[in-house]
Amino acid sequence: MLRFEQMQGNAFELPTKIKHGIGIIKDIAEDVKDLKVTKPLIVADPGVIDAKLIQPVEESLKAAGIDYKVYDGVTADPDLEVVANGTKMYNQNNCDGLIAVGGGSSMDTAKAIGVEVSHGGPVLEYEAAEGKKPLSERIPPLVTVPTTAGTGREVTLWAVIKDPAREFKFNTGGPLIAAHVAVIDPELHVSMPPHITAGTGMDALCHAIECYTCHYAQPTTDAAALLAIEYAGKYLRRAVANGQDIEARYGMAMSAMLAGISYGSDSAGAVHAMTQTLGGIIPVPHGAAVAATTAPVMEYNWIGDPHKYARIAQALGVDTFGMDVHEAARASVDAVYQLVEDIDAPTLSELGVTEDMITRLAQEAFNDPQTVGNPRDIDVEGYERIYRSCFE
Ligand SMILES: [Fe+2]
Repeated sequence: MLRFEQMQGNAFELPTKIKHGIGIIKDIAEDVKDLKVTKPLIVADPGVIDAKLIQPVEESLKAAGIDYKVYDGVTADPDLEVVANGTKMYNQNNCDGLIAVGGGSSMDTAKAIGVEVSHGGPVLEYEAAEGKKPLSERIPPLVTVPTTAGTGREVTLWAVIKDPAREFKFNTGGPLIAAHVAVIDPELHVSMPPHITAGTGMDALCHAIECYTCHYAQPTTDAAALLAIEYAGKYLRRAVANGQDIEARYGMAMSAMLAGISYGSDSAGAVHAMTQTLGGIIPVPHGAAVAATTAPVMEYNWIGDPHKYARIAQALGVDTFGMDVHEAARASVDAVYQLVEDIDAPTLSELGVTEDMITRLAQEAFNDPQTVGNPRDIDVEGYERIYRSCFE
């Protein structure tokens, strides 16, 4: 079903060149040269460096005679200080470009460093919120190299940064923050352990489901989202069960990228309102929190747009022949519950969330700007109901 508001005028912008293939990381120096970057700052976290995932990047740069610096200060849920330290290193070393290697945290940090470098002020001033400044400058050339298949941040127009003072993860973004080139090589994903594959893969699936069903959906993002859902349905179990399955790794890398494209320039929905606010309060991995909340949110939401949820069931491989639209929509919810069970994703209680936190968590989720796009109207009580169902 097409929404009337969408037909009144909309746009889709993707400023990122997307390269993908098995083993293509060895050619990254060519991309850096094409961008006329002479001294990139590689932005990564210590885990990525220990796993030797920046090694092929360094080898390619060295072979091409390109000087570089490594910023290894990225943490999970990067905060303002992590970004500021990276900006300092970038400026002190006269860098002229960025290479983010890692998951969402590395790519978000690199984007936020880009904002600080190009705008000359802290990224907090550019929060996507009322009363803050819009981005006005393009960030320096940025190459994103995802080492997980999930966040899609290699192609999204968003970065999420934590403001410790408010215990809040805020968004900044728009086309000016997008990477210039994304280099997606599934060989970098084969060493990911099953629980990370599961959490990040559910994050990809959730981006696609939320963006397909949210009020900001448009035909361009719907097309990307549906294939992202199909690939996740087909490949996530295989990638979790057999890390070396390169076809499954490639399929999930494409799922994550397509889901990132479906993010468009708008936002997601209730799962991301819940998990981003939760992640601001306690240190839970984003993907794991998403895996624990996606099906309960779908159970609440499907009635807001049954036709689209029926299509999600089909994309996930459910045989909906003979079902009416409402049965098919409910089947999409069951399919996601089953997927989460098959890949052994932890529940909210296993992640350390307790029921006495629900009142605060529901209020914070309601205040999150991503509540606005949710396919079913939702208030604080609605969030409390979803959170409670996560404990049943
Ligand atoms: Fe996410």
